[in-house]
Amino acid sequence: MTILIDQPQFGTEVEGKRVLNNEKELEGDEGFRMPNANSFGHNFRDYEVESERQEGVEIFYRTNHINQTYDFVKKMREEYRKLDRVEMSIWECCELLNNVVDESDPDLDEPQIEHLLQTAEAIRKDYPDEDWLHLTALIHDLGKVLLLPSFGELPQWAVVGDTYPVGCAFDESIVHNKYFKENPDYKNPAYNTKYGVYSERCGLDKVMMSWGHDDYMYLVAKENKSTLPSAGLFVIRYHSFYALHRSGAYKHLMNEEDKENLKWLQIFNKYDLYSKSKVRIDVEKVKPYYLSLIEKYFPARLRW
Ligand SMILES: [Fe+2]
Ligand SMILES: [Fe+2]
Repeated sequence: MTILIDQPQFGTEVEGKRVLNNEKELEGDEGFRMPNANSFGHNFRDYEVESERQEGVEIFYRTNHINQTYDFVKKMREEYRKLDRVEMSIWECCELLNNVVDESDPDLDEPQIEHLLQTAEAIRKDYPDEDWLHLTALIHDLGKVLLLPSFGELPQWAVVGDTYPVGCAFDESIVHNKYFKENPDYKNPAYNTKYGVYSERCGLDKVMMSWGHDDYMYLVAKENKSTLPSAGLFVIRYHSFYALHRSGAYKHLMNEEDKENLKWLQIFNKYDLYSKSKVRIDVEKVKPYYLSLIEKYFPARLRW
């Protein structure tokens, strides 16, 4: 079964990957080599294709910013924390996600499992002792199963893209921030101040984040009593929170533990961005290592 997603994958995340991917190709081992087309035959400097993509990204963020309200997130969290949909292991979920191919993300023609393993293997090479971070990398995007029918088949705007807190003022650094003016919370005095429903240094785990694959996977790991360290859970929940880890916004809500964990998120993020490289992974070869990590940090079969 192959599920084709007919919209591009959105987010600062994706744009960063595209740029870095090109840079990487430029500095290939055999010396300077200018790539002029990706695997879909589109020129990297095809401005018409580029502007169409930009338009798609704008439409995506407009829908996202209008609909991600405090009440919507609350409803989604309540619904999905029941974990009453599917029972499967982490590895089974990796294989399931493999059926999701983003057809129109023009620089990504590899199955999702390769992105996950490329990220994980790259981190493993540089941080061989942090096995929790290898597993975190493997599972960080598994929440994208929300796009599949058995997980509610949520629209793209409720699954991918940059995430941000709801219940307090939307920061200016959030991508396409102008569209928040159409979000009902924007005019609600309970939600539109610096702290909103939160208090100073309350800790990010008290903060409701816009709903998507990050928060869903965080809930799955937490509710299934994963023994991943708090830094692992932090990376999963905030990896698309670019206003925090790229722009430094919302620091007033962070506690001491968040500050420590943010260092790991910043390390992780560099690898997530590079992971669309053309390095192919022999899945069968690395599988036993990741199965051993799954057994260590997720002792039981998971409910989703
Ligand atoms: Fe992600
Ligand atoms: Fe990712």
